[in-house]
Formats: sequence, structure tokens, C-alpha cells
Amino acid sequence: MLSKITEKLRVWFSGPRGPLLLLVFGVVLGLAIVASTSAVLLVTGTEQFCATSCHEMEDNVYAEYKGTIHDVNPSGVRATCVDCHVPSTGIPLYFRKINAVRDLWGHFVTGSINTPEKFEAKRYEMAVRVWTYMKKSDSRECKACHNMDKAETSSEKAQVRHARAKAENMACIDCHYAIAHNEPEGGPGPQELVIK
Ligand code: HEC
Ligand code: HEC
Ligand code: HEC
Repeated sequence: MLSKITEKLRVWFSGPRGPLLLLVFGVVLGLAIVASTSAVLLVTGTEQFCATSCHEMEDNVYAEYKGTIHDVNPSGVRATCVDCHVPSTGIPLYFRKINAVRDLWGHFVTGSINTPEKFEAKRYEMAVRVWTYMKKSDSRECKACHNMDKAETSSEKAQVRHARAKAENMACIDCHYAIAHNEPEGGPGPQELVIK
């Protein structure tokens, strides 16, 4: 049965309409890949998915984020998980998503952060990964919403520090860390972190 089918396919593809068939086949396969990739990006790119599809996130970082200025503020403009952690488009988005597979591995295979205690024990290491990412990207995700030159209400303290930030080419995360989750303990903060 199977050999009959493959024999038929061979005849079709090597026949006069072979190239056309191959083209149609290629287009259909291409569309299927694009559609399923988009679907995965859509589903995994929501606050709902990131915050509550596994209890590692729900019990720790999500609970901590709740009620912070990025969750609730007078303007009603919110920054949720993906706004800070995932580039909005392009190649960086794909790289970030591929990287996130590690989290699935940690959840299903090694169970490395599946209790609050284990999460706490790993928090500093995870924070360093986020800080490193945000320093390397020059806090691109923060800057998608913030422009420190345009912060009208900047206190004197903020103005002085922001002038220094510009002069020394610092990333937002160098000073504004632990703004959405508990402060990680166990080593130096982002400013002292040496990025290789
Ligand atoms: C989706 C848009 C968005 C993103 C992304 C975002 N923010 Fe915000 N941020 C806001 C909004 C909205 C507020 C509240 C403004 C207000 O009500 O005054 C805010 C407030 C703040 C404040 C002021 C806190 C205070 O107490 O007044 C700081 C500091 C800040 N953000 C830093 C950051 C940093 C650092 C990042 C990146 C890690 C970031 N933000 C990413 C939208 C965003
Ligand atoms: C050198 C440290 C430093 C860096 C780097 C830095 N900030 Fe700030 N920022 C401050 C300080 C200090 C304040 C004032 C906090 C306070 O008054 O409690 C502040 C305040 C703010 C506020 C609150 C509103 C205001 O202006 O008072 C926002 C929003 C903000 N920063 C955004 C950013 C963004 C976006 C970046 C990156 C482009 C950034 N900051 C980089 C130190 C820094
Ligand atoms: C305003 C930006 C912002 C938002 C919104 C945000 N995060 Fe974070 N997240 C950070 C930063 C910055 C760090 C690096 C550690 C730190 O400074 O707190 C971090 C660290 C983490 C870590 C590593 C563990 C740790 O505590 O350092 C995880 C996991 C995480 N975030 C998940 C989430 C999830 C899930 C959401 C949505 C419920 C979320 N984050 C919302 C900025 C944000």
C-alpha cells in the first residue's frame, strides 16, 4: 500500500507537471508553517499565558507584579509580562521565543523551580539573565514606552541621575531594577554586573 503511494508520487513529481506540483506543495507547506508559528506567538504572547499557565509564575513573579505601578496607575496604561520581557517584533522576537523553550524544559523535565523555595533559590540567577538581556538591548523594551527626556514631572533627583545616565551611557535597568518583582538577593545588582 505505502509503496504504491510513493510510486505514484514519484511518477507525478517526475512527470511534466512535476515542477508545478512541487511549487504548489512548497507554497502550502510554507503557509502552514507561517500560520502555525503565528498561532504559537499569539497564544504565548499574552499576559494570561505568561502569568498563569504555570504556578511557578503565578505564585511568585505574577503575585509580586500585581498592584505595582505597571499593573495599576492613574493613566490605565499597563505594561504586562511581554511588554518588558519580549521584543515586539522581528528577529529578536524569534530568538527570545526559542530561548523560552528552556523555561519549558525547566518546568516539565527538571522541575527546577516548582516550589516557592526552589524559585527563591534560583531567583538571583534568573534575574541576572534578565538584567544581562536588558543591558545588552539597552533596555529596548522600556524605551518602547518611556523617554526619559520627556518625563515632565521629573524630580530634581531624577534629572540629576538621568543626566548621569546619558553621560555614562547607562541602561534604564542599571538603576530601575526590582520594579515589578521582589528584589533578588545573592550578588551584585545590574550596575555592578560585568557583561561579557
Ligand atoms: C507598555 C509600556 C511600558 C513599558 C514596556 C515599561 N513601562 Fe514603565 N511605566 C509605564 C507606565 C504607563 C507607567 C506609569 C506612569 C504614571 O502613571 O505616572 C510607568 C512607570 C514607570 C516608572 C515610574 C515609577 C514611579 O514610581 O513613578 C519607572 C521608574 C518605570 N516605569 C521604569 C520602567 C522600566 C525600567 C521599564 C523596562 C524594564 C519599563 N518601565 C517598561 C509604562 C511602561
Ligand atoms: C543613574 C540611574 C538612573 C538611570 C540609568 C535611569 N534612571 Fe530613571 N530615575 C532615576 C532616579 C534616581 C529617579 C527618581 C526616583 C525618585 O525620585 O524616587 C528616576 C525616575 C524615573 C522615572 C519616574 C518619573 C520621573 O521622571 O521622576 C521614570 C519614568 C524613569 N526614571 C525612567 C527611566 C528610563 C526609561 C530610563 C532609561 C532610558 C532611566 N529612567 C534611567 C535614576 C535613573
Ligand atoms: C515593568 C517591567 C516588567 C514587567 C511588567 C514584568 N517583569 Fe518580570 N522582570 C523585570 C525585571 C527588570 C526583571 C529582573 C529582576 C528585577 O530587577 O526584578 C524581571 C525578572 C523576571 C523573572 C526572573 C525572576 C526574578 O524575580 O528576577 C521572571 C520569571 C519574570 N520576570 C517573569 C515575569 C512575568 C511572568 C510577568 C508578568 C506577570 C513579568 N515578569 C512582568 C521586569 C518586568
